[in-house]
Amino acid sequence: MATPLVIDTDPGIDDALAILLALASPEVDLRLVTTVHGNVELAQTTDNALRVLHLAGRADVPVAAGARDSLVYRQPERAGHVHGETGLGGVELEPSPAAPDPRPAVVAMAEVLLAAETPVTVAAIGPWTNVALLLATYPEAAERIGRLVLMGGSAGRGGNVTAAAEFNVWADPEAAQRVLGSGVPTVLVGLDVTLPTVLDDDGIARFAAAGPVGETAAAILRQYVDHARSTYGTTGVVLHDALALTEAIAPGTLGTVRRDVVVDTTLGAGRGQTLVDRRSVSSSPTAVEVAETVDSVAAVEFLVTRLAALARSAR
Ligand code: RIB
Ligand code: CA
Repeated sequence: MATPLVIDTDPGIDDALAILLALASPEVDLRLVTTVHGNVELAQTTDNALRVLHLAGRADVPVAAGARDSLVYRQPERAGHVHGETGLGGVELEPSPAAPDPRPAVVAMAEVLLAAETPVTVAAIGPWTNVALLLATYPEAAERIGRLVLMGGSAGRGGNVTAAAEFNVWADPEAAQRVLGSGVPTVLVGLDVTLPTVLDDDGIARFAAAGPVGETAAAILRQYVDHARSTYGTTGVVLHDALALTEAIAPGTLGTVRRDVVVDTTLGAGRGQTLVDRRSVSSSPTAVEVAETVDSVAAVEFLVTRLAALARSAR
């Protein structure tokens, strides 16, 4: 029995690979994609989500648009310099024949959650604005979340958009605080495990050679590779969101410890920092499972083999 899955996303290069990974994984049944502001503007993240699903032959998956901006203070800037102005590394995917779902993201999420026959995994891989709104607007639907897998934050690796803050949390710290304090069973997949998990050119070449979908995924990654090389001097890319989806698809992939986490929502230099209390294992009902260890080689192999399989099947 495949686990019902909802992905909340701001495609985004690594978001695109994460969506493709979910479609390549029989363990999950992708019932809904909801889009959020983040890497680029909402209209673009929504169109990108539709196009990525269409690329994989899954334009049947509904895409519902959500928040255009963060809850309290507007997101200071987008990430076009990382993901390209359109968010997919400059690659023009074929437009989807599907239109966005007419429901607002929060309504679509609530309806999918309440209709599901078993608890639903929700993977949030953009700013968590939509998730915060769901928790506040439809708490009864939030109770149907079996696992909330969040890409974001950092326990001990500092930030990537500022010295203190990881992008998804930085984009909406108030939403992040609301979500992390919700008590929903939550896994936090942060920079501590994503940064060591690097997809290199060999891995990209393997799924690129498997078929047109793999070739297109590799093309989308090209800008990310160039950015990583020029910014970090690395020869590979960190697919933050794909690692979060790996944990959503294969629970236990990451080594987690139950920790209390608070978000710096002040307006100073630390804004958006996730303060993870690593002094002890928490027994608090609002603690979260913080991912602290990863077998990066195994995680990359999981991603590459599945993307290659998807590319072969979509020939
Ligand atoms: O910090 C990484 C996160 O920010 C990823 O979700 C990436 O897509 C960007 O949104
Ligand atoms: Ca993202």
